[in-house]
Amino acid sequence: MNFIPYGKQSISNEDIDAVTKILKSDFLTTGPKINEFENALAQYSEAKYCVAVANGTVALHLASLVLLNKNEKVLTTPNSFLSTSNSILYVNAQPIFIDIDIDGNINLDLCEKALKKDPSIKALYAVAFSGNMINQEKLKYLKDTYNLKILEDNAHAIGAKYNNIKAGSCKNSDCSIFSFHPVKHMTTGEGGAITTNNKELYEKLLTLRTHGMTKTANLKPWEYNMVELGFNGRITDFQCALGLSQLKKLDQFVERRIEIAKKYDKAFKNSIITPLYSYHGKSSYHLYVVKVNFTKQSISKLDLYNRLREKYKIGLQIHYMPINKQPYYQDLGYGNENTPVMDKYYEECFSLPMYAKLNNDEQEYVIQSLFEVLSEN
Ligand SMILES: Cc1ncc(COP(=O)(O)O)c(C=O)c1O
Repeated sequence: MNFIPYGKQSISNEDIDAVTKILKSDFLTTGPKINEFENALAQYSEAKYCVAVANGTVALHLASLVLLNKNEKVLTTPNSFLSTSNSILYVNAQPIFIDIDIDGNINLDLCEKALKKDPSIKALYAVAFSGNMINQEKLKYLKDTYNLKILEDNAHAIGAKYNNIKAGSCKNSDCSIFSFHPVKHMTTGEGGAITTNNKELYEKLLTLRTHGMTKTANLKPWEYNMVELGFNGRITDFQCALGLSQLKKLDQFVERRIEIAKKYDKAFKNSIITPLYSYHGKSSYHLYVVKVNFTKQSISKLDLYNRLREKYKIGLQIHYMPINKQPYYQDLGYGNENTPVMDKYYEECFSLPMYAKLNNDEQEYVIQSLFEVLSEN
């Protein structure tokens, strides 16, 4: 059996044809596919506007530029990839790390506690961890009650639905972002997008994506005005062609991931392996995370990780090391927040292979190997 990683892309001949077509065309970048991809993403996620960019980190950076002001305090989670809180630092705002809930998402009740204590907090960056959407009723309540600016980091959650609310629809947030890294549900190689329902934010994002340049009717055809300090955050046309082709299959990909999740749920029922959450219809399962209380096992998490990799050719991954405890953050004074749930979670968690192309035999092999290694002395 080939190595089974925790995540991987699903590329078809149709995808390859779509990219090749653009490579043979006149526009490799700044061409018509970008707009087409943005419209399709906006339609899919049920948001009014979409800006496609070079990757999810750029999406977070540009969103932070339009949402936040210098020194503003922003509630966020330690359980994410670095980019979520880094984007707050990029704009010289101040992340405040709040503990997670048992499902891996930021604890919104603790967010409210922090907001009551410190009314100067201006924003919340919430990650739909593993594809599990943020509680939308609570998000709406916080937004309305505390006049919070809210960003939903949906890098894990494209295709997810919270009752009738789609990930990226920004029903209860100002902006949402996606990532199209190959381990995500759909890929453009590298790539990302920001969705919003706010026209003003949308227009600012477009300008910031291209060096802060604008063109107006009074200018000569070759002239442009730089009105802000923007960036080159653009995505290429061939990436957008891949994205359009992948988007057509996204629902199928998500369905397959749900099937895999249900099979894992069943396999781990009444065992020492505890799924982070069992299937509940609100996750599009970028990750399938489980927890094991290693203090009660004869094997450590490191040995489990190494043994599965070396002997069984299965790649686990750990999502995530607490961001607030990273050396860079510690140098800024972070790291001693009261986050008992996150700390315990990090001791126990690991992510199992989860991707649309994982077949039944491979999944069965993963389950059996996992039980085998956990029962070894
Ligand atoms: C939650 C989260 N946010 C943001 C990002 C950044 O996305 P990208 O890798 O496309 O820059 C990632 C990437 O893994 C992520 O998992």
